[in-house]
Amino acid sequence: EIKAVIFDLDGVLTDTAEYHYQSWKKLAQEEGISFTREDNEQLRGVTRRQSLEILLKGKTLPEDKMEELMVKKNEYYQELINNITMEDLIPGVEELLNQLQEDGYKLAVASASRNARTVIENLEIGKKFQLIADGYSVKNNKPAPDLFLYAAEELEVEPEECIVIEDAESGIEAALAAGMHTVGIGPEERVGQADFRYDKIKDIKLADIVQ
Ligand code: BG6
Ligand code: MG
Repeated sequence: EIKAVIFDLDGVLTDTAEYHYQSWKKLAQEEGISFTREDNEQLRGVTRRQSLEILLKGKTLPEDKMEELMVKKNEYYQELINNITMEDLIPGVEELLNQLQEDGYKLAVASASRNARTVIENLEIGKKFQLIADGYSVKNNKPAPDLFLYAAEELEVEPEECIVIEDAESGIEAALAAGMHTVGIGPEERVGQADFRYDKIKDIKLADIVQ
């Protein structure tokens, strides 16, 4: 029996994947590194540091330079997310959250981002969630199951009583490793491992996934 629904944030509730892309792109241009929208697909659900490592394509830099680049990227990203409003909720999200709330499910956000709270605050959806787990909550990030297991523990439910809604391959992997039910949002090649897959969040049929 499903008792809780755990949402990824970036790319599920709002399209911050685009803002992450724009920030990395700006940094890459300054550093003379090529970086395309397609390359950005690999960064979904991946931590800031791992994203930088992928961007550098295996090139290693001194630690202080790595730090400097991560700080810069985050500054660019924060400039963009400052302008987020409730208009930036992905179509279908508000209706889905309202329905789940009405049906009595516990709701949580589990995001790898250290900016998750700002984004949620700007979207004005914080009150809908019993828990916000973010990039500060656990040490090992997705695809490790830790963040989702932490969320289940805080919500006082068992992993098998949770559904995770994710747009990233690493996120689906993490949720499956946690022993949770999974809903993938996006193309087959990205989230095909999920129990259910939809192109868009507004396509979700609640009766199918909450059984
Ligand atoms: C994830 C995003 O939610 O958070 C990744 O999908 C991002 O693209 C990661 O790198 C970390 O985010 P932040 O805001 O802490 O740099
Ligand atoms: Mg995501």
